[in-house]
Amino acid sequence: MTNYSAWDVSSQDFPIKGAIEKQIEFLCRYAILAPSVHNVQPWRFEIDNSTLRVFLAKERTLEAGDPTGREGWLSIGAAIENLLVAAKYFGLSAAEIRRNAHSVEYAFTPGQADLHLEPLMQAMVNRASNREPYSSTPVARETLDEIAGNQDEGVQVVASSDRKLIELIANLTGRAIAIALGNPSFRDELSSLVRSSWTKKSTGMPGFGLAVSGARSLIENKLIRSGATADAQGKKEHDVLIHSGAVVLVFADGDTQPYWINAGRAYQRAALVATAHSLDTATMAATVEAADFHLDVERYCDTGGRLLAVMRIGHSGKPARHSPRLAAHEVVTFSS
Ligand SMILES: Cc1cc2nc3c(=O)[nH]c(=O)nc-3n(C[C@H](O)[C@H](O)[C@H](O)COP(=O)(O)O)c2cc1C
Repeated sequence: MTNYSAWDVSSQDFPIKGAIEKQIEFLCRYAILAPSVHNVQPWRFEIDNSTLRVFLAKERTLEAGDPTGREGWLSIGAAIENLLVAAKYFGLSAAEIRRNAHSVEYAFTPGQADLHLEPLMQAMVNRASNREPYSSTPVARETLDEIAGNQDEGVQVVASSDRKLIELIANLTGRAIAIALGNPSFRDELSSLVRSSWTKKSTGMPGFGLAVSGARSLIENKLIRSGATADAQGKKEHDVLIHSGAVVLVFADGDTQPYWINAGRAYQRAALVATAHSLDTATMAATVEAADFHLDVERYCDTGGRLLAVMRIGHSGKPARHSPRLAAHEVVTFSS
């Protein structure tokens, strides 16, 4: 078993006759396929009979890149979305019973299986960030409407091929990345999670997923740490963004942990719907995190919400490979 085996999960293996704890454990195998900032996988799951608590794993958070915890909780929201879609698909009804600054808790009861969710289940396993350039062909209006269609409480999703909006995001992202990479602490932390294309580590980002060659992946972390590539990286992100077919933006009514979780869920649902339509996806947090860059996007889109996630979508023509994951048994515990 390699640390890429998390992706081998198959719905055929759901323990339909097993105890509810075992069924919830199986749902966690879908949760851990979610995207996360720098692939830190900041989640921890604790199962107690028919309840599940999802925590932020303090040891896998980013001090420099995510000082507020926003990106960590967005990632946990994405994992929760996978988990709850899988629960519905397998016929487990989930009710949120508690939410505090450290965790969210769900109670599960037997319910009706929703087999219509099959395309999203497939998308969970097929999705991988694709950081290659995309063709600028606009995405069909109906597809964009479907991507933006599932909005959580207090969350607004905008999916758009508007060239002016794409240009705005590209300019802001390019500048924000150059600024972030100008910060030595940010660079140190990022470079500690940038790996070669042959890495056997279970967290962090292998070079093959960063659109760099195998040879370059061997030195990419050192280049990032040196700061020599900050401007080039900003330009690269600007250029790939400006050619994307569409952007998906997630806004929320507030900028605190409960909103981050809901926005993370909406972001992941949009990514799953896009993947089910054979679209490639890639996320750029720079505009969300950099000072007040988000304000320009908020003014342009006029949803009244705070920008919390930015994703480009389109067709790259190059398949994306899965990045590694911690095994479920490393992040799931049983309390009884
Ligand atoms: C909240 C969040 C923020 C992210 N920010 C960025 C980003 O700024 N730049 C980037 O290249 N990828 C970003 N990503 C993508 C992650 O790096 C990616 O999900 C992770 O490496 C795992 O790879 P996978 O998506 O292929 O499974 C982000 C993902 C999430 C969930």
